[in-house]
Amino acid sequence: MKYEVLNLPAGLKCDPATGQISGILDNPGVYLTTLHVTNRIGTAKREFKIVCGDKLALTPHMGWNSWYVWENHVTDKIMRDAADAMVSTGMIDHGYMYINIDDCWASKPGSKDSTLLVDPRDGNGKINSNKRFPDMKALTAYIHSKGLKAGIYSSPGPLTCAGHTASYGHEESDIDRFTEWGYDFLKYDWCSYGQIAGKDKSLEAFQKPYRQMGKILKSLDRDVVFNLCQYGMGDVWKWGGEVDGHSWRTSGDLGFELNRIYEVAIRNCGFRQYSKPGEWNDPDYIQIGWIGNASKQGIPELTPMPAAMQYSYMSMWSLMAAPLIYSGDMSKLDEFTLNVLCNPEVIEVNQDPLGECGLVIKQDTERFLMVKNLADGSKAVGLFNRGKTKAEVVIDWTKLQLSGKQSIRDLWRQKELGVFNQKFSAQVPANGVVMVKISKR
Ligand code: GLA
Repeated sequence: MKYEVLNLPAGLKCDPATGQISGILDNPGVYLTTLHVTNRIGTAKREFKIVCGDKLALTPHMGWNSWYVWENHVTDKIMRDAADAMVSTGMIDHGYMYINIDDCWASKPGSKDSTLLVDPRDGNGKINSNKRFPDMKALTAYIHSKGLKAGIYSSPGPLTCAGHTASYGHEESDIDRFTEWGYDFLKYDWCSYGQIAGKDKSLEAFQKPYRQMGKILKSLDRDVVFNLCQYGMGDVWKWGGEVDGHSWRTSGDLGFELNRIYEVAIRNCGFRQYSKPGEWNDPDYIQIGWIGNASKQGIPELTPMPAAMQYSYMSMWSLMAAPLIYSGDMSKLDEFTLNVLCNPEVIEVNQDPLGECGLVIKQDTERFLMVKNLADGSKAVGLFNRGKTKAEVVIDWTKLQLSGKQSIRDLWRQKELGVFNQKFSAQVPANGVVMVKISKR
């Protein structure tokens, strides 16, 4: 296939073989372009808007994070293999772009493992990686060479959650180091900062380390996405954007109790008014396929989650405009998992430029709708059934401020279901979803 972009603004170029657009824009602004892709069968085209200004992350981040599958076993090789798999599986073509190391790349003071016990910092006070990451600059260069971006993790306390060296008192030099290494994304935890904040439970105390880091990142001559991970303390959704964060975890770790996904999602929707381009509520990662098992660290296992529920998981995260960060084993992606992660019509709901988080409308204790307004005036709706048996879930126009004839498209199946008046109902499998788009006829 050959790619071409019409009206590409000055400073950018498109690689005709991969379709990758790169470069530095001469001027900020909103640029309307048209993507063309041609092969022997014909040409497909689509409008594409490039927006360049002060705000980053205008759509939710998409990528992969090492934590839930590799925890403290993460290595340079695992990160490189993940980047390779992001390309070879085609995930990159669906918008997945960040390859993010979580905790455990820095030194671990007091560790008995010689690969982790290195000098925490060099002679200039700059943070060192441990021996499992022999050359961070080469690692990010490798990730970038694949057309992907690289993310790193730290904590504002002296130590991270897993007891590795963190940034307290070294914030400026750590960021110097991360940018020198070439990172594009920072996840900033809270661990061990509690001992610094002490008894001070004021809002200012919760905000302080993030405000400080946000300011440093904003001053850089580099785009670094800032992901806050402090579990929602001090109602972070109300001020995460103000401290220059681009996303913030709204709760504790989703962990391995994945039957909690509905509770976590419904609670997350309670903060929907704070979701907007550049400012995202983060209900934690997508864990399907081969994932870690907290009790058997380093040995991924196939998720026991029923297939129907995996569709629910991905549907809710898309309808909530949540970051889509996969945290399973990239080397074992099977066809089913990839189909759940990479349905373009579902991802399009997640990446919709309006950035709205869905509204939950309950039908009863087990059935509910999640409704997301889209930029083109249509609505994406998930019809969810948490029950143990198949059940009918109904969209009643009056509850969605709709009227008249509406076209319904099944997004998972990518199929028109027809034109409906007043209501639409579907038989939804146990623990499953039917996800549709409703457009005025
Ligand atoms: C916290 C975070 C997790 C992960 C671990 C790493 O628990 O919430 O996402 O980053 O720390 O130790």
